[in-house]
Amino acid sequence: MATDQNNDPKKELNTIFDDERDLLMDHEYDGIQELDNRMPPWWLYGFYFTIAFSVVYLFYYDVTGWGLTQEEEYEREMAMAAERFNLEEREAIDFAELAILEDESSLEAGRMIYVSQNNLCATCHGQQGQGLVGPDLTNNLWKHGCDLESIMVAIKDGFPTRGMQPYGSNARLTTEELHQLASYIISLRGTEPPNPRAPDMSRSVECHLD
Ligand code: HEC
Repeated sequence: MATDQNNDPKKELNTIFDDERDLLMDHEYDGIQELDNRMPPWWLYGFYFTIAFSVVYLFYYDVTGWGLTQEEEYEREMAMAAERFNLEEREAIDFAELAILEDESSLEAGRMIYVSQNNLCATCHGQQGQGLVGPDLTNNLWKHGCDLESIMVAIKDGFPTRGMQPYGSNARLTTEELHQLASYIISLRGTEPPNPRAPDMSRSVECHLD
């Protein structure tokens, strides 16, 4: 009986077109041979593109430094945000340049902050500044300076190791609010409220506004 030629695996393996004979490579594994075909153009162009890209990339980011690194991009965006929201300007307000506010509405605004549950000043320093847990703020005995700037800094930074958080309760105030609050505290000086807390003479010094 004649065997069907197409079912003969040997025969099939050996079927190589005439124009492919030159391309046949000389290795063979398990009867599998390989043709040294040209690579498809789309693949080659992709490959050339990655080479060109890497050269440009290296040049742009490393050799010339024109491209920004992630860190530089971050710095730049932070700077842009600071500019946009005027952060630097706000930080730059120098407390030393401010004058004590004496108009009624500013002092009233300061008083509202002083007695508010938000910043808790009155909780520790008394409703009239006579002192409770914190020192009396109405006399001329001070530990950290009695001028506007010192008081603004005292409020802003607090004395965390001695029991006063920044802004009394960490509830941040704007520079304007700090200014009003500190002016209000200065306005309490000499008011002699009842039941003042005794000063801690070991650390307080006599201080007057010039
Ligand atoms: C939890 C209690 C507490 C709260 C709230 C608090 N303080 Fe004080 N404050 C203190 C204590 C305690 C001191 C004394 C720090 C020291 O001994 O150095 C102090 C010190 C100060 C001083 C400096 C006094 C000096 O002799 O130089 C000022 C000014 C002051 N507080 C203002 C405020 C204002 C304004 C607020 C509200 C925003 C506030 N404090 C909220 C406890 C408090």
